[in-house]
Amino acid sequence: MPTKPTKRSPRVKPGQREEETLRVLISHQRIRERVRHMAEEIRRDFPNEPIHLVGVLKGSVLFLADLARELGGEVSFDFISVSSYGKGMDSTGEVKMNKDLDVSIEGRSVLVVEDILDTGLTLKYLLVLFEERKPKHLRVAVLLDKVERRIADVKADYTGFVIPNEFVVGYGLDYDERYRNLPDVCVVRLGPRGKTKIEA
Ligand code: IMP
Repeated sequence: MPTKPTKRSPRVKPGQREEETLRVLISHQRIRERVRHMAEEIRRDFPNEPIHLVGVLKGSVLFLADLARELGGEVSFDFISVSSYGKGMDSTGEVKMNKDLDVSIEGRSVLVVEDILDTGLTLKYLLVLFEERKPKHLRVAVLLDKVERRIADVKADYTGFVIPNEFVVGYGLDYDERYRNLPDVCVVRLGPRGKTKIEA
């Protein structure tokens, strides 16, 4: 027997908890167009070159998958897992590696693919680590950039969108592992009954 639809309002997003509100910041349509343009820009800089994408798990997965398809030409990819965030919205400020790359990047044209640049501490850590491994080129593509939060002196070579200092989810980004599957990038806010406070 088919399951009965729930009585929640159609504006409630999948996985959304009652104390959380979500507002679309960047629609999937805008993301698709921007990713296409970013891919064109990257290919212009590396016309006939195999590009080795290094995705930073897990937030970059959807962005990397779309970017890889738009890039065309020879593309390979690998993943690294680091964590700088604990549960919720607060950074621990420390970066630690959970999973290293599977293959060497020596002599390759590497494009680090990140979901979001916040303090920049994660990217700084990765760039220091990867430079030591002697890639031919080392470039960075980020979907989102919260410029005003920056602590580390790093910049992306290719940026999708500069966004205000708000906690965002969707298109790979999570809040406590939820919302990664939303097609849009949304701002998440916790209501009065939320257990965690949003940073000022
Ligand atoms: P950074 O080291 O402070 O630049 O943080 C980078 C990582 O923090 C990202 O790869 C995300 O995993 C996480 N992060 C920062 N801001 C947000 C956000 O607004 N939503 C979800 N994750 C975030």
